[in-house]
Amino acid sequence: MGSSNKGKTVVITGATKGIGKAIAEKFAKEGVNVAFTYNSNEKIANEISADLENKYDIKAKAYPLNILELDEFKPLFLAIDEDFDRIDFFVSNAMIYGRPVVGGYGKFMKLRPNKGLQNIYTATVGAFVRGSQESAKRMEKVGGGSIVTMSSTGNLIYIDNYAGHGTNKAAVEAMSRYAAVELGEMGIRVNAVSGGPIDTDALKAFTNYEEVKAETIKRSAVNRMGSPDDIAGSVYFLCTDEASWITGQTLVVDGGTTFR
Ligand SMILES: NC(=O)c1ccc[n+]([C@@H]2O[C@H](COP(=O)([O-])OP(=O)(O)OC[C@H]3O[C@@H](n4cnc5c(N)ncnc54)[C@H](OP(=O)(O)O)[C@@H]3O)[C@@H](O)[C@H]2O)c1
Repeated sequence: MGSSNKGKTVVITGATKGIGKAIAEKFAKEGVNVAFTYNSNEKIANEISADLENKYDIKAKAYPLNILELDEFKPLFLAIDEDFDRIDFFVSNAMIYGRPVVGGYGKFMKLRPNKGLQNIYTATVGAFVRGSQESAKRMEKVGGGSIVTMSSTGNLIYIDNYAGHGTNKAAVEAMSRYAAVELGEMGIRVNAVSGGPIDTDALKAFTNYEEVKAETIKRSAVNRMGSPDDIAGSVYFLCTDEASWITGQTLVVDGGTTFR
């Protein structure tokens, strides 16, 4: 129990900002080497990797990845193999926004199954499956590991315009339970962290951001909005020996907002 993760490696998708960035910092602080991906923000990604290396004396490197192009996962992991000697943890965090979610982020009557809704499935379930498959092959070689997918409480409670995301978060939680059963024999645990509303750019992209924020503070048992750091600790916990008997679970991290 409590053995250190120092010298191990985590792969995180979408760590240029928000929750992914906070997760990268948390792992780095614990002495874990960090391989992470960016989509549009290459410059910021390189600044983050330099900053993590300087502050925490670990190795950090950023790689390009578009989660809508699932064929990119294989070359991504081959590139990571060149720079890191092992993979112990995988966090499926990146999420699409803007144009690609048109037809997926909106009212039920406006959903377009072959457009935005399909993209959200690819970015949520598809990216989790491909990233976990590539990671698991490497984790098996080092005797096991831990995989965490980001989910959201929008699959438990109604959020305006969130039908596309909410249903795909429910799907990725179910997929993570299937993965947990089948990867267990490799010593790999698989879990989901389901976040309540967290103050990030993704939330600012909600058409009713101010309203969601006010409502979250009102509903929260601790009377405040969630921050990316509120999520990062839980993701890290699931990758420690303290969580050695936890697999196939969803940890709800919501400041008490869901029940209220
Ligand atoms: N914010 C919330 O309230 C909340 C609550 C619960 C769960 N979550 C979940 O937590 C995760 C992170 O959310 P966040 O709020 O931190 O998001 P965010 O701040 O918008 O960050 C999104 C990340 O995904 C990357 N990304 C965007 N499009 C991409 C693409 N096509 N391919 C690959 N990467 C792409 C971005 O990279 P670039 O910057 O390089 O483009 C960025 O690093 C998501 O799975 C989200 O559903 C969020």
